[in-house]
Amino acid sequence: MSETLDILVEDSESVRADNFVEVQLDESIPNNVDLSSDKQLLRALETWHPQYLEWWKDMGPDGFQDADVYLRTAVGVDPSGWAKFGHVKMPEYRWGILLAPKVEGRTIPCGEHKGEPVWQEVPGKYRALLKRLIVVQGDTEPASVEQQRYLGKTAPSLYDMRNLFQVNVEEGRHLWAMVYLLVKYFGKDGREEAQALLERRSGQQDNPRILGAFNERTPDWLSFFMFTYFTDRDGKMQLAALAESGFDPLSRSCRFMLTEEAHHLFVGETGVQRTIEATCAAMARAGITDPYDVERVRALGVVDLPLLQRKANFHMSVTRDLFGSEISSNGAEAFSAGLKGRFNEARLTGDDHQLQDAFYPVTQVVDGALVVNQVPALRAINCRLLDDYIADCQGGIDRWNKTIEKAGIAFKLTQPHKGFNRRIGEFAGHRIDPQGEIVSDEHWQANAAEWLPNAEDMDFIVSLMQPCTEPGRFASWIAPPRVGINNQTGDFEYVKIA
Ligand SMILES: [Fe+2]
Ligand SMILES: [Fe+2]
Repeated sequence: MSETLDILVEDSESVRADNFVEVQLDESIPNNVDLSSDKQLLRALETWHPQYLEWWKDMGPDGFQDADVYLRTAVGVDPSGWAKFGHVKMPEYRWGILLAPKVEGRTIPCGEHKGEPVWQEVPGKYRALLKRLIVVQGDTEPASVEQQRYLGKTAPSLYDMRNLFQVNVEEGRHLWAMVYLLVKYFGKDGREEAQALLERRSGQQDNPRILGAFNERTPDWLSFFMFTYFTDRDGKMQLAALAESGFDPLSRSCRFMLTEEAHHLFVGETGVQRTIEATCAAMARAGITDPYDVERVRALGVVDLPLLQRKANFHMSVTRDLFGSEISSNGAEAFSAGLKGRFNEARLTGDDHQLQDAFYPVTQVVDGALVVNQVPALRAINCRLLDDYIADCQGGIDRWNKTIEKAGIAFKLTQPHKGFNRRIGEFAGHRIDPQGEIVSDEHWQANAAEWLPNAEDMDFIVSLMQPCTEPGRFASWIAPPRVGINNQTGDFEYVKIA
């Protein structure tokens, strides 16, 4: 799948151009929100800007701040031509504030205010809740940049290195998008939150990022691809739910962010796909058909499939925790207030979008057994988004499996049971195996190394992480992409390392 195609396929709905908005590119902060007419806001953002750059230099890609990177920059919000490509030094990247076009006549799609015109200003009684939603979303953006900051040094190719940096600068832009909302609509509080977003640090003990998965390390490229497939997909779901917000500026911010998010998911899906391709090709050349002949497979310098499954298990389970407790009064409140919808809220048919009398099936642990209970749908909003997420994950997994099947290898990647390895929500505190059996602690301890990456796995992955920076060359464990970025040729110098 080419990148452009991917964007069109993944999120064509999110970039509907209902009207054309002029982007002011020549200003200190490129934007399509008429920043120059609001001097106070402009001043606040111009104060934040150097602090952001300081954060970027401290916590952004380590060792590559002077490299010329072939990056895409958003220069508009028109789906037919919103990006331009060119070599840029990352600190000089044009991070801008871009909102998707206003949809005239848009109404609040859900909750108590369903059908009323969307809010252009913060609704007073929901101020705290709305601010919290924006801060939590905003916090994930710089967090992932911090998690990925050392990966450039072990990139398996210049193509991959460029994709990493593209994801990083766009997460930076997503931070800008949330900071714009905080500073414009939440006064002094908002400015303080914008500051705090630059102060928290992924994985730091005393001032960590807000959500658990964003404090995990992303120590290697396999983790990066799993992260961009599974964890950026949580990002997609959250953005999609916030794109349904009755607070229109948030909705418009998120709609445009989704366009960029599609590329992050593409990087993850094709990264794992290419890893599988390299494995299958090496196994075929060596005449190995048994995927569990791990020692021989690893000797070929490729990732064995059971290890990929364990990596996927880890990233899936940690990411599922990001959806919060399946049953949640905060989730109910955000939905009823019309601040956050369900996935595809406005297009859902079959209910009243208020859910006062509706129920939703939630799997719970009752007396040591998994039981599906009908729970008031309002309180199960998080559970529903998680279920939609799990369904959304399956497409790429099916495509990965097709490659394995075509190679004639008897192995299938699967999603573990929803309750596997969870720390938050209904399954927290229970030991549930990937098949969905509740097991004893002893059984878990005895088998965890089969289900989650073990120390040997991690050592092996680290041993594979040898940088490959010659244009057109790729590390042994990953196949070249089918198409270059912006249709560049195979030996294109995506990153000119200073
Ligand atoms: Fe993002
Ligand atoms: Fe992302």
